[in-house]
Amino acid sequence: MFDPYEIRKDFPIFQRKIGDKPLVYFDNAATTHRPIQVIEAMNNFYLKHNANVHRGLHTLSQEASEMYEEAHETIAKFIGAKSWYEVIFTHNTTDSINLLAYSWGLFNVCEGDEIVLTVMEHHSNMLPWRNLAKIKKAKVKYVDITDDGVLKYEQLEELITERTRVVAVTLMSNVLGTINDVRRIAKIAHQVGAIIVVDGAQGVPHMPVNVREWDIDFLAFSGHKMLGPMGTGVLWGREDRLEEMVPFRVGGDTIKDVTLDDVIWHDLPWRFEAGTPNVAGAVGLAEAAEYLMKIGMQNIRQHEKQLTMEIMKRLDEIDKVEYYGPKNIEIRGGIVPFNIKGLHHHTVARALDMFGIAVRSGMHCAHPLHYRLGLKGTVRASLYIYNTKEEIEYFAEALTTITKLSAALSRKEEDVCTGG
Ligand code: ALA
Repeated sequence: MFDPYEIRKDFPIFQRKIGDKPLVYFDNAATTHRPIQVIEAMNNFYLKHNANVHRGLHTLSQEASEMYEEAHETIAKFIGAKSWYEVIFTHNTTDSINLLAYSWGLFNVCEGDEIVLTVMEHHSNMLPWRNLAKIKKAKVKYVDITDDGVLKYEQLEELITERTRVVAVTLMSNVLGTINDVRRIAKIAHQVGAIIVVDGAQGVPHMPVNVREWDIDFLAFSGHKMLGPMGTGVLWGREDRLEEMVPFRVGGDTIKDVTLDDVIWHDLPWRFEAGTPNVAGAVGLAEAAEYLMKIGMQNIRQHEKQLTMEIMKRLDEIDKVEYYGPKNIEIRGGIVPFNIKGLHHHTVARALDMFGIAVRSGMHCAHPLHYRLGLKGTVRASLYIYNTKEEIEYFAEALTTITKLSAALSRKEEDVCTGG
């Protein structure tokens, strides 16, 4: 039985207050909190097993290596991968996509080739591909969205041609919450021999994922958005695709042998994990994945569907509030961007903070998407397993108060992207 109140007991952060108010954390698309189990797993590594991996025959190094390898296995299970050796640990989604764009892209994309992106991409799934296109003199094409924030699939079919080498698309928009049909896109991409790269930063923590059923080529995601530690991320790739990649960050642990003239690269995934890895982070990430699997990803998706419908219903009732993204909950995750007429988005975010409510405001590192929608920014509420209907009621009451005070609150704020 899914019970967010039981789940909250695992999260020490919810004991703290913001001023004299309980914390209402609606900034989960930026980062999530960690349950005590994840914190303890990392502590346990440092307290009892700490050693470098793959570099020692002593007991601690053997234990650390085993824990690190098991973490790959857990993540493979979490996303339905064929094997743990298809799982490369990185620092975050951005890092994963950069690694891919250079390791795969530099050697597989040629002058005149095409890279197809969508206008709803986070900068992380846009700028690495644009850099690659510039270096290789390739062309970047963008799939548009409807005004409701749904991908124009017919246009996508037209834009993908025999010259397309890469189709890179988000699983869930970090602004609109739109869930894209990556299985459908994979089919279209594969018909012309292109690869499909899925940015799973927002999607993977919130829904069941099976990379083999979806028949995608690469998936990137972050640990910190799924209850894991910051500075941990994953690049999953289909084995044959990973074999097409040339090691990009090279050095310790990436090789089997080196002479002054030659190098024999290590097996997968080690050839892509140069240097001493974040072992405690990997252990914490695996613990987070276990924690989520125990709750059940379908239950999580269901809970967030209910909360998202509730939040949209409550926003519909408040004068002066407009929100964006698909209304159809089947293609929407728990992310709701909105504005209050007459108030700057940063003003609203600051005002909500006075109620103890944490949201993000700005363009959420998706500037082209905001320009496409004609918006200077939005306030973004993003939900997770520990959020409750009660919190949404409190949030709606706070927003109602803020709209009533809007004349007094209204003042000019700077237009800035607040990081991420
Ligand atoms: N990418 C994160 C966000 O959308 C930081 O907020």
